[in-house]
Parts: sequence; C-alpha cells; structure tokens
Amino acid sequence: MIQNVGNHLRRGLSSVFSGRISRKSGARTRTESADGAMSDDAYRNPTEVQMSQLVLPCHTNQRGDLSVGQLLKWIDTTACLSAERHAGCPCVTVSMDDIYFEHTISVGQMVNIKAKVNRAFNSSMEVGIQVTSEDLCSEKQWSVCKALATFVAYRELSKVKLKQIVPQTEEEKMEHSVAAERRRMRLVYADTIKDLLANCVIQDDLENRDCSHMVPAEKTRVESVELVLPPHANHQGNTFGGQIMAWMENVATIAASRLCRAHPTLKAIEMFHFRGPSQVGDRLVLKAIVNNAFKNSMEVGVCVEAYRQEAETHRRHINSAFMTFVVLDAADQPLMLPWIRPQPGDGERRYREASARKKIRLDRKYIVSCKQTEVPLSVPWDPSNQVYLSYNNVSSLKMLVAKDNWVLSSEINQVCLYTLEDDKFLSFHVELVVHVDAAQAFLLLSDLSRRPEWDKHYRSVELVQQVDEDDAIYHVISSALNSDTKPLDFVILASRRKPCDNGDPYVIALRSVTLPTHREMPEYSRGETLCSGFCLWREGDQMTKVSYYNQATTGFLNYVTTDVAGLSSEFYTTFKACEQFLLANRNDLAPSLQTL
Ligand code: COA
Ligand code: ADP
Repeated sequence: MIQNVGNHLRRGLSSVFSGRISRKSGARTRTESADGAMSDDAYRNPTEVQMSQLVLPCHTNQRGDLSVGQLLKWIDTTACLSAERHAGCPCVTVSMDDIYFEHTISVGQMVNIKAKVNRAFNSSMEVGIQVTSEDLCSEKQWSVCKALATFVAYRELSKVKLKQIVPQTEEEKMEHSVAAERRRMRLVYADTIKDLLANCVIQDDLENRDCSHMVPAEKTRVESVELVLPPHANHQGNTFGGQIMAWMENVATIAASRLCRAHPTLKAIEMFHFRGPSQVGDRLVLKAIVNNAFKNSMEVGVCVEAYRQEAETHRRHINSAFMTFVVLDAADQPLMLPWIRPQPGDGERRYREASARKKIRLDRKYIVSCKQTEVPLSVPWDPSNQVYLSYNNVSSLKMLVAKDNWVLSSEINQVCLYTLEDDKFLSFHVELVVHVDAAQAFLLLSDLSRRPEWDKHYRSVELVQQVDEDDAIYHVISSALNSDTKPLDFVILASRRKPCDNGDPYVIALRSVTLPTHREMPEYSRGETLCSGFCLWREGDQMTKVSYYNQATTGFLNYVTTDVAGLSSEFYTTFKACEQFLLANRNDLAPSLQTL
C-alpha cells in the first residue's frame, strides 16, 4: 500500500515541484573517469584489503572443516593490514566484537576475506570484515561470518592521532555513522555485562538434578602453555591477536570435546578485549573449562595470562573469552548434550553467569543483529535489553539519515521536506536552519516533555522513567488524526547522543517500547513509531541545521502524504513553531549544561 501511495505521490509531485524533484540532501560522491563520466563501479574503498585462501588439509580440524583458529588468524591479518593501510604505521588488535559462524568451510573450498576501515576515532579504528566461502567446482558462495575488530595505531611506542575516514558510498556512510554507536557500546561492554549478570535472575535446578547423569565440569578443564616465537609476532615483536585467538580456540575445543566426547563445532565467540600486549619470549598460559551445557549448546570459557621466564609469578591477564559450541550429527543437526555438574564456588558462579550470558546474548542478537525492518514496532522494555534497545534506537535513525535516495519534495521559506521510499516504508524528513547553538537546540529538543510547547500534535507528555543520562521513556498523548478517531498514545524511548567528533550530528532518536505499567487504554488508540527523531548539525557559530526524521507507520501515513502531496503546509507550520521555540529559549539553559 505504501508503495502505491509512493508511486502516486511521485507522479503528483513531479508536476507540482518540477525542476526540484531530483535534488538530494547529501550529494553522492562518485568516481570520475578520464572521460569525465561518473561511475559507481570504479570506486574502491582505499582501505580495502582482500585475502583469498584455499583450505588445505593442514588448515582443518578433526571434522575436516577449516579450523576457526586458522580463520581467526586470517581475519586478524587481513583486518590489521587494512588498519595499517589507513594508519600508515603498525597497529594492534584491541577487541573483536561477537562473531556468529553461519557455515563451516570444507577442505578444498576457498575462503575470501574482505576488510575495510569503517571509521577512525583518535588512535583506534573500527575495521569491518566479511568472510565468504566459495566452492570452486560449483561456483557457489556462502556468507560465513561478519566481524568487527578495533585496532590501535602505534608509532615508536606512542599512540597516533589518526586521520579521519571520509565515507563515500551510502553503505560507507551508514557504517561510519553507526560505528560511533558501536564504539560507545564496546567501551561500556564489560561494565554492562557485569551489571546485567549481577541483576539477572536465573532459575537453575542444580540441587534437584540427578547427579549420576552429569559430567563433572572438572573433567573438561584444560591448561596449556605456548611460547611466543618470532613467527607468532609482527616486526615490532608484538604477538598477533589472531594467533592468541587461535590458541584460545584450540584449548576451548579440547574442553568442549571432553564434555561431549565428540568433535564439537564452534558457533559463536563473544566480544573480547586484549587488555594488554604480549611479546616474543612471553609464555602464554591458556586455561579453559566448560562453564555450562544447555540442551544443544555449551559455553566454554578461556582465560589467557602471560609471563616472562624471569618473573614467572608476575602474570599479566591478556584476554578472557566465551565460546559457544554445538555437536552436529551427519545431517548437521545439533545433538543433545550431557548436563554439567559445576564445582562449588567459582564453578557454580560461572555456571550461573553462563546462563545469564546466554539470555543476554539472545536478547542482544534479537535486537542488534536483526534487520531493522524485522524488529517489531514495540519491543518490551527490560533492564536486560536496555543497552541494546538504546543502540538499536540510535543506529536505526543513523541508518535512515545516511540513505542516499532522499528526494526534495517541497520547500516553503527554506523549510525543506524530503521523502524516501523503500520496500516497506515511506520516510520523510523536514529540515531548516535555525539561529541557535547546536548544543542548546539539542538540550531543548531532547527534553520531550517540552515538545507540546511547539508541536500541537503533542497534547501531553509524561516522563515515565529517566533510564540514564541519555535515555528516557515518555508517555505521549497526541491529538486524534481525524475528528472521528480517538486520540493516540505512545510509549517512547528517547535516546540522545552528542557528536563523536567534528562533523557528526547531535542525535535524538525515538522509538516505541512497551511497558507493563503503561498498557493500552480504551480511551486511546495505541500509536507506534519505529524510527524517528532529530539530527542537529552545527553550521557555524550559533547556526544549526535541524532535521526531523520519521519512518512513517500506517497510522501516520495520511498526515505525511497530505503534506508531501502539497495538500497541506502543516509540516511548515509545525517547524516554524519549532524554530520559534528554539529562538525563544536559546538562552534559558542552566550554565552547567552549556558545556555540551
Ligand atoms: N574496545 C575497543 N576499543 C577500545 C577498548 C575496547 N574494549 N578499550 C580501549 N579501546 C580504545 C579506546 O577507545 C582508545 O581509542 P581512541 O584513542 O580512538 O579514543 C584506544 O583503545 C586506547 O585506549 P586507552 O584508554 O588510551 O588505552 P588503554 O589503557 O585502554 O590501552 C591498549 C589500550 C590498546 C594500549 C591496551 O589495551 C593494549 O596494549 N592492548 C593489547 C593490544 C595488543 O597487543 N593486541 C595484540 C594481541 S596481545
Ligand atoms: P570469570 O572467572 O569471571 O569467568 P576469568 O577471566 O577469570 O573470568 O575467566 C574466564 C573464563 O576462563 C572462565 O569463565 C573459565 O571458563 C575459564 N577459566 C578461568 N580460570 C580457569 C582455570 N583456572 N582453569 C580452567 N578454566 C579457567
């Protein structure tokens, strides 16, 4: 239906606004060839590095598949070369985000790895990696996994201030924008997990289980030592992160095999962080144990410490990781696993934490790795998913903003209305430049309870919960769209972000959530917003480009299309009122807030 409306609109608009219809917000940069023609095909990201490897028997595990450890070494090398291409100096792996393996790779197949720098921050960079496998005989290709690694650049043992990445294509712009949000999540990851583990109530029936059918966790314990030699390190003598990950995968696989007495398959690795460097000559002690076994999967934890021969008692914690294994039958179906009996003390703690991590992982996977259009409109709000909902809220808006095919539909007195049609949605954004400082506009607009002061569609707003400094939940009652309908009410999560660096906008993202305390009521129709909000760009001293974005849901469509079709100037009136509100309140902020 939206598609039809869109097509109709496009026809109607081209006559009303002829001559302006093709102007886009944000010009797309393309490569110019020698004859002056523009071509998308010629463009290649300057930081892109590719590696292709033929899987030989020496790369495989007990099942005859490519060992994940070997794959991690190739991934780390490719990503490091991409990071170094951008930095122009040596780089080390700091962290690797969660990796889910979709397919195993057999001997004789090709592995193709592509890495490029998504964004450079200060001394660190996010590198995006895509791994595919290819059957050379049948030409078939499969996606194996996607990974995101962070590298830090070093020159003569000091950190380097990196030059910024200038994204060119729509995909690069999206990755660049969302990378800032991912970095934010990475830096609080350890604390977030710690808080969630502390608050996650997991029911376990350890006491009631029949111990005779359980494998004691102790039976799976592994300890192994590795001596770091020059082939394991870069030319600076620093151990390759990929080599350490490969050693970790090796001991984890031994622990997993000891539980199932079969050849397990690694399905997922949880985000991990290299806390400190290791060099040639270090002894690395790797320890692993099965923390918990669920019906079809088990969590193995691995811990790596380093020491020098001359100071054996001084051990440095290098890394800890959690890996999920399954055991597959001949038809690649997961088999049931035996129960595990943890040791009292640390073992029982890790057992419970593994259950909690599993819940967190599933929540996170559902919210973060789903395609935006697959996440239902209103996701239930819960302390265990709040970090991910906030991430999803901001990154959805950033992805919408980075789209390339926004089309100017209408302009009245420098208030511009742009639209964008894709498969499922009609989105619009309204833009105007206001004579107000960006930080002030950000504070004024991010306080949703002030919106009724300028938006007559907002009848009342109640702050339900101030989740943290940047996230709040509001209950909004808005006017009925037509005289014969009920007023709408919304439960909205507002997530705000300051710019990560120069050129980034201030972002205020809005999306619906559900709260048990605010269920639907007979006097209102429940309205929902999947993705809407503001982006504010500093346009010089005391000048801000204010853009309001909305991915229109069905209930809102009529309002949008009436404006887009030029049948109403409501958007203009509303945004002029917004400008007046910002101008009238430009000086009323508390001094403490003006440092933003
Ligand atoms: N995930 C992603 N990036 C992280 C991170 C994490 N968990 N922790 C820190 N960083 C980033 C910071 O954001 C910062 O980036 P920026 O300069 O772009 O803002 C950068 O790393 C440095 O952080 P900083 O806080 O200044 O230093 P630190 O005390 O955290 O140390 C390292 C960072 C990289 C120096 C240190 O962790 C280290 O030496 N790790 C081992 C790296 C290595 O040798 N890897 C190979 C295998 S051992
Ligand atoms: P935590 O104990 O909080 O899980 P650690 O970083 O100490 O965190 O350890 C990470 C994982 O490494 C543990 O969950 C466990 O699975 C494994 N591990 C730690 N110490 C040992 C050990 N001594 N023997 C075997 N495995 C260990």
